[in-house]
Amino acid sequence: MKFFLDSAKLNEIETAWETFGIDGVTTNPRHIQNSGKPFLTAINDIAAWIREKGLDGKDVFPVSVEINPHLTDAQEIAEAARRIADISPNFVIKVPCIPSGAAAARVLEKEGIRTNLTLVFSPSQAILAGRAGCLFVSPFIGWKEDNGEDCRQYMQDIVTIYKNYGWYGKTQIIAAAVRSPKQIVDCAVSGVDIVTAGLPIFQAAVNHAYTRQGMDTFTDAWDHTAQ
Ligand code: E4P
Repeated sequence: MKFFLDSAKLNEIETAWETFGIDGVTTNPRHIQNSGKPFLTAINDIAAWIREKGLDGKDVFPVSVEINPHLTDAQEIAEAARRIADISPNFVIKVPCIPSGAAAARVLEKEGIRTNLTLVFSPSQAILAGRAGCLFVSPFIGWKEDNGEDCRQYMQDIVTIYKNYGWYGKTQIIAAAVRSPKQIVDCAVSGVDIVTAGLPIFQAAVNHAYTRQGMDTFTDAWDHTAQ
């Protein structure tokens, strides 16, 4: 299972890459806002970081970038997507799961511009991404579970549908807005391809009280043993 970092902050991207070997990044307008930078500056800075690390290329380290969410016309969405995709070969364009978004994604994928159908909240929406040939589909499991829904069956259904129709692995399933280590495990059990989460979630996932306790026990034993 791949790990993507959900952030537009360069220091977080650097840490997550160094520590967890993340495979890519997802951003959204809220992450760009939290970076404190104007939109174009934030995404150009990420593109520059990718080049600096030698990670540039279509098939390495994808970075999902969301276009202006005010755009709801398929042609306008496609035009905005082309402009953003020109900035970096790593950029994958997030388009919303609305009829014009799915139409734009179909056209863009045919042109070789990779897309991520985002704001997906049902298996029927996820089907659109498979049919459109999107590189990614982003079911937002965190938002649903924050709302009291259990997403295990939801993810399982999307995986089953994708296997039924040969989309599994072609349109990669990103379980998005993952909020806890437990959700990471649920994602892994379901067979989704990728989880995207904030840095604190990955940090929490590697921590365990017994590990810390064990480190203390072994450190103490080490210190009381002749070397
Ligand atoms: C993923 O692609 C989305 O940007 C993200 O998971 C949305 O979740 P947020 O609520 O963490 O911003």
